[in-house]
Amino acid sequence: MSKTGTIAVLPGDGIGPEIMASAIKVLDAVSAKCGHTFETKEGLTGGLAYDKFGVHLPEETIKICEASDAILFGAVGGHVSDQESPRWKDAEKNVILGLRKKFNLFANLRPLKVWPGTESFSPLQERFIKGTDVLIVRELIAGLYFGPMRRFEENGEITAEETSRYTWKQIENVVRIAFQAAQKRKKKLTVVDKANVLETSRLWREVARKIQLEFLDVAMDFMFVDNAAQQLVRSPASFDVIATDNMFGDILSDLGGAVVGSLGLVPSASISAKGGEKKFGLYEPAHGSAPDIAGKGIANPTAQILSLAMLLRYTYELDKEAQAIEEAVLAAWKAGKKTKDLAAPGEASLSTDEFTSCVIERLK
Ligand code: IPM
Ligand code: MG
Repeated sequence: MSKTGTIAVLPGDGIGPEIMASAIKVLDAVSAKCGHTFETKEGLTGGLAYDKFGVHLPEETIKICEASDAILFGAVGGHVSDQESPRWKDAEKNVILGLRKKFNLFANLRPLKVWPGTESFSPLQERFIKGTDVLIVRELIAGLYFGPMRRFEENGEITAEETSRYTWKQIENVVRIAFQAAQKRKKKLTVVDKANVLETSRLWREVARKIQLEFLDVAMDFMFVDNAAQQLVRSPASFDVIATDNMFGDILSDLGGAVVGSLGLVPSASISAKGGEKKFGLYEPAHGSAPDIAGKGIANPTAQILSLAMLLRYTYELDKEAQAIEEAVLAAWKAGKKTKDLAAPGEASLSTDEFTSCVIERLK
């Protein structure tokens, strides 16, 4: 059945526009093949929005998102050495956290998958990495990122503080998503926390034990975050679904990205409870804007392309199309087509555009 829809496209800064161009080409190819019609509406965010409107997340862009079924997001932010200039100060916070809060995107799904035949992308030995297929479910609109934060002077010393705050309901919402995901996978959920120290973590455990009563077919365990970091490196394949808070999820997903081979491989879906026929979500690579390689045409578009696949799967329930995209990426790799980040030293690599064409050629 052919579908129609409207997708807000926010390429952003750095490599964002380059990898977004790849994803849009893939979207066009899939739509043409399967008879779907998607209208894309581009909005400004980050540095370019600042140049035009003096803000990183203009009202105009929010309106475009509100009028769409889903947001396909690239990346935002300037160079680390330039964080204090007005053009870049708080750009990530304003745009990324702004959109997450505005659209109540409380659960962030980050798959860490080693496709059969791609074990060599990982810095780990094949026997450790083989079969790795983890889904991190990260809470996205509370915790340290959104609690009160301030800077003040105490006893003549400059002091800063932030507060991690979680309500029962906030934890319940995200833990339930994690259980539901586990139920459709290997039926194993690991709740990652720091309950030997933190009160919020103790509440996470309490909530998780309660919700588990609704999901008795899922095996649940708890793991401290420091140990989880270690286990993700030592035996990544032993995990199925991980549920964790905003801060821990941020750190573990970069760690996991490195474990599977590159952060350039990790897509993400940020979803809200808003049901309906089309489930709203924001889909973005787990990596940032990589200004150091922007404009060189060498960025790996995989995370952006796989984020598009997640969009088709979650928002439009186009499972076959999503799978076709994933299989095309895998087929390109198997044919030895790789961007620079994945190529072995001395091995030939393709530009962003060349790799994208190789993916599109293999779309079935
Ligand atoms: C991510 C990013 C963001 C986060 C930053 C850019 C605010 O690192 O999506 O993981 O910390 O959530
Ligand atoms: Mg991060």
